[in-house]
Amino acid sequence: MDHFNYKNGRLHAEDVDLAEIAAAVGTPCYVYSTATLTRHFQLFDDALSGMDHLVCFAMKSLSNLAILKLLGDLGAGMDVVSGGEYARARAAGIPGDRIVFSGVGKTREEMAEALQGGIRQFNVESEPELRALSEVADRLGATAPIALRVNPDVDARTHEKIATGRKTDKFGVPLERARDIYALAASLPGIEVIGIDVHIGSQLTSLDPFEQAYTKVAELTHQLREDGHDIRRLDLGGGLGIPYTRGNEAPPLPAEYGALVQRTVGDLGCEIEIEPGRLIAGNAGILMTKLLYVKEESDRRWLIVDGAMNDLIRPAMYGAHHDIVPLNEPAAGVEQQEADIVGPVCESGDTFARSRPMPPLAEGDLLAFRSAGAYAAVMASEYNSRPLVPEVLVRGDQFAVIRARPTIDEMLGRDRLPGWL
Ligand code: LLP
Repeated sequence: MDHFNYKNGRLHAEDVDLAEIAAAVGTPCYVYSTATLTRHFQLFDDALSGMDHLVCFAMKSLSNLAILKLLGDLGAGMDVVSGGEYARARAAGIPGDRIVFSGVGKTREEMAEALQGGIRQFNVESEPELRALSEVADRLGATAPIALRVNPDVDARTHEKIATGRKTDKFGVPLERARDIYALAASLPGIEVIGIDVHIGSQLTSLDPFEQAYTKVAELTHQLREDGHDIRRLDLGGGLGIPYTRGNEAPPLPAEYGALVQRTVGDLGCEIEIEPGRLIAGNAGILMTKLLYVKEESDRRWLIVDGAMNDLIRPAMYGAHHDIVPLNEPAAGVEQQEADIVGPVCESGDTFARSRPMPPLAEGDLLAFRSAGAYAAVMASEYNSRPLVPEVLVRGDQFAVIRARPTIDEMLGRDRLPGWL
């Protein structure tokens, strides 16, 4: 459920008519709903309420400071994967003891920043990374709390590019190597073993792969405790999928996921951490665009909009589907016509949808790309020298620009001419 609905024939974000935002901010722009973000965070928090837990938002999905502050104020922790994300989380007021540092390629500088700034735990992904972290912590006279990310060799049955829990994926250490690496960790200076971490992929639409992975984590917990490690925290990653096509998709709900967590690892006496991104942010945002031209040639119809693949890369990159709806509610039963919905960027990959049935539309009409809260604005680029698009946050009947549209001069101003030109 989200808070983007038609009211009096016009698409609203909560109580704000989206056309009002388009008039004030221009298009394209991203719009997020406070009520949806809050609701989705709360669903996870409630789903784990029977257990000692922390919901760490995977901020790679949506990292605007205002969003982080909003979620942080609700009690969220953050899952960060770079020094930049760590700095954002801190700038948004998230205390270090609510920040988890994930990722296969943390640099020594990033490790030092987090150790000095405060960190809840590092999710360590390899033996060389573990050794590097030990060196850095030892040099600083600090102790790095760690969970080792294990690779359970489970197929998440999702898009190839976002499955992360198979042996052939770059993430984590194989389960059968885990005991050795934990033994090593316990012997290294500056390292304190506190738990286990697992994350098998994103946009999972079935609970089975989670169940397989968490069952393996439970077994490993017993083994590691036998080996003398004080395993007291389990980070179960993120990955629960969302409906991208309204009406005919129903991925499991956070409550069902919470019941699975309770069933598989709930009796281990561990603190539970999860790292959802998409489910919290995905359906809490839209990308608003304007129809520039309707081009009809050779029996095809193209709707050329002012948003492009640089603003929302998911369709080009993963063949992802986003529902696209007009801001003016189409009359019931109106005849739909198939169209390709494309942006202005100069490659055929800049296609959001092919042969998509759409109601009658005219130049200047506004359209909303739904489910564009997660992995959307954060993956934008300036390809074709298109400035990044602004972000707007709605709360009730209010809205605020939370990232301004850069001017062309600001964009050009970052370039430098060397002395010889
Ligand atoms: N934890 C870790 C270690 C992750 O790598 C990820 C996502 C998450 C948590 C959050 O997963 P979520 O709950 O959002 O599924 N750009 C792709 C998605 C990449 C996901 C990367 N890792 C997309 O647009 O579909």
